[in-house]
Amino acid sequence: KWPKQVTIKEVGPRDGLQNEKAFISTKDKIAWINQLSKTGLTYIEITSFVHPKWIPQLADAAEVAANIEKIQGVTYAALVPNLKGLERALAAGVDEVSVFMSASETHNRKNINKSIAETFPVLQEVVIQAKKVGKTVRGYVSTVFGCPYEGSIDVEQTIKVADKLFEMGIDELSLGDTIGVANPRQVQEVLEQFLKRFPKEKLAMHFHNTRGTALANVLASLEMGITTFDSALGGLGGCPYAPGASGNLATDDLLYMLDGMGIATGVQMELLVKAALFIQEKIGRKLNSHYLQTLNES
Ligand code: HMG
Ligand code: MG
Repeated sequence: KWPKQVTIKEVGPRDGLQNEKAFISTKDKIAWINQLSKTGLTYIEITSFVHPKWIPQLADAAEVAANIEKIQGVTYAALVPNLKGLERALAAGVDEVSVFMSASETHNRKNINKSIAETFPVLQEVVIQAKKVGKTVRGYVSTVFGCPYEGSIDVEQTIKVADKLFEMGIDELSLGDTIGVANPRQVQEVLEQFLKRFPKEKLAMHFHNTRGTALANVLASLEMGITTFDSALGGLGGCPYAPGASGNLATDDLLYMLDGMGIATGVQMELLVKAALFIQEKIGRKLNSHYLQTLNES
């Protein structure tokens, strides 16, 4: 009924830290990523090469990417919005890049300052140049399940964006519930449409847990055969250009559920918790994942 194995893509150092008020020092970011590398995670989104004025928390992207200790078997990825971002990412030696845009016209503009139509050629160039140097490219589409500005988003609109991104040559698409409004029924309805067009191996789900539905949405996705999930340790995160966006699905909560269900991930809870406690201390507040709270209380 459920897949035997799932890949967890840790986005905490990017999606998590981009929305934290505290600026985590470059040294602490590097130390945290080095700890994450040893947990058994095979994919870490370490930063983003966006405009530092737009995301000051990740202004040190180049230094972070260039100074982490890379471990074999772990893919170190970063978000890039355009060619300038790609150049910076390649110079810093990232393994993989992710392009991103929104299914919502308004969120797209607020987040990357372009209409959807204007975004396609920009991302197309990034994909072409990244492929030229042999990089895998991931795509993200945001606000799939709802937009903070426009409300509900038609699945046809999301599919139009997805079609374009796959035509460009992206290798995988992550479907984002940017502000955490999705429910399991909606997830299955959207996935039903997607799976008619795209193989399940090329899709990932990116849930935020704003309203507590993220794990339920993971279960709904597992039932549809999806095996890749994005999450952020401790439930850090959110998009600063999506009002109301809060923490990502917490990696530790996800792992607790998958471990209990006998679904293999290769990630070790003990080491994950150590890494969570490290970043919790640096951030200076209790992280809000359920799993960590059971430890914080004891
Ligand atoms: P813009 O101002 O329209 O950019 O911003 P521009 O192309 O007009 O260039 C203006 C200046 O910025 C130029 O400098 C460029 O060189 C510079 P000047 O010539 O004036 O000196 N510039 C850059 N500098 C450094 N790195 C770059 C870069 N690009 C241009 N990459 C831009 C457009 C996309 C750059 C801006 O809007 C931006 O950086 N946005 C970032 C927004 C962001 O990071 N949001 C959060 C991530 S998305 C998310 O969280 C959702 C997700 O998690 C999935 C989900 O949950 O749904 C992925
Ligand atoms: Mg996100």
